[in-house]
Amino acid sequence: MVRSFVDVCNLKAHIGETISVRGWVRNVRASKTRFVELRDGTGFVQCVITNADADAGSYELAGNLSQECVIELTGVVQSHPKTGVPEILAKSLSLIADSNDYPITPKEHGTAFLMEHRHLWLRSKRQWAILRVRHFITKAIRDFFDGENFTLIDSPILTPSACEGTSTLFGTPYFDEGMAYLSQSGQLYLEPAIAAFGKVYCFGPTFRAEKSKTRRHLTEFWMVEPEVAFARLDDVMALGEGMMKFILLRVLESKQEELKILERDVAPLENALNNEYIRMTYSESVERLRALGSDIRWGQDFGNDDETILMNSLDRPCWIHRFPREFKAFYMEPDPDDSRLALGADLLAPEGYGEIIGGGERASSLEYLLEQIAKEGLDEKDYKWYLDVRRYGSVPHGGFGLGLERAVAWICKLPHVRETGAYPRMMGTLWP
Ligand code: 4AD
Ligand code: MG
Repeated sequence: MVRSFVDVCNLKAHIGETISVRGWVRNVRASKTRFVELRDGTGFVQCVITNADADAGSYELAGNLSQECVIELTGVVQSHPKTGVPEILAKSLSLIADSNDYPITPKEHGTAFLMEHRHLWLRSKRQWAILRVRHFITKAIRDFFDGENFTLIDSPILTPSACEGTSTLFGTPYFDEGMAYLSQSGQLYLEPAIAAFGKVYCFGPTFRAEKSKTRRHLTEFWMVEPEVAFARLDDVMALGEGMMKFILLRVLESKQEELKILERDVAPLENALNNEYIRMTYSESVERLRALGSDIRWGQDFGNDDETILMNSLDRPCWIHRFPREFKAFYMEPDPDDSRLALGADLLAPEGYGEIIGGGERASSLEYLLEQIAKEGLDEKDYKWYLDVRRYGSVPHGGFGLGLERAVAWICKLPHVRETGAYPRMMGTLWP
């Protein structure tokens, strides 16, 4: 007989019906009545196996199941009398695959052990919840930009030149052409595309040879980068804020189960959804930081601590804009009101999560960019194609990059970005 299986997440629609499910055994409590917690990937369900309702062989099997063996089970869906959550009163079950001595038991394990078993750790409830939120955020981001008439332009991963400084490039030999570098950002490839499509975005993996081991830095991370013709700095900040609120609304509407598993207090997320974000110039933020006890001086970049100190004093996301040109990327438009400054904007997340978005207005003058390229010690001929954007119909434009993992870490309130992806890559981690 060909049996159709119900997804556990859909059980609510089958109360009172006899159905079949299949999946992995998460946990068994075998007293007189046997309780099997089953996981099929779409959700978790408690299956109740009694001597009276199940056939004798199934009842016996239920008493001998071990963690992570795979079963298929047929029974009647009922609402748990107290919680209303669907559960299954089993009629029969059979073993599909055995599992013995599963290394990750319900007891506490250290992070090093769990990272070494990342391929198995994925099965835990917490990892399931995080990666489901990540998937959902990815979808929300795509829906947001698609709904705003953006065109997706896939930027290349193998590139001949740097976008975000030469110190964090991963290189690989590329035939007779010399070295190729894994992309740090798709931005330089999006800027030419605005002249063809107006509003574009890319969304893919980016790479940085970050030699720092922090809870915010990965060597491989996903970034969504919109780029918009005619956008000025304020437009860039408004777009970033609109996108964040779209993501938060979607997650709060649809990911309550996952947030509950993560024990996430949603009040700060609701705050970020319902309030206008703070906007502060870099100069104002330095003054504020010094008043809060930081020894940062004007002209210095924020350290991770500074971002944390600043954000612990604020109850919602905050844009910092107009940074000293000295420590910002070569492509930023200078501030017409103060030539020391660049028209960049970073969004800092609350609760100590630091920068999740970096972006701004791009330089539109050819002469200025040539100067900047020389100053950075970059090779002008590597950027000839990029400079063409300024030769043929140059318009003001801007955009930003949101680090997906940092956004997920904040929204799920995780202590470290390493849990935001299925197979994270950091300095010292290339496994599995
Ligand atoms: O601020 P960044 O370096 O900006 C750019 O790459 C621009 N070209 C983007 C643009 O304007 N199109 O990086 C953007 C974001 C950061 O705010 C952060 O969220 C994330 O990318 N990010 C990292 N996330 C994890 N690990 C790292 N090592 C990261 N470096 C940057
Ligand atoms: Mg940045």
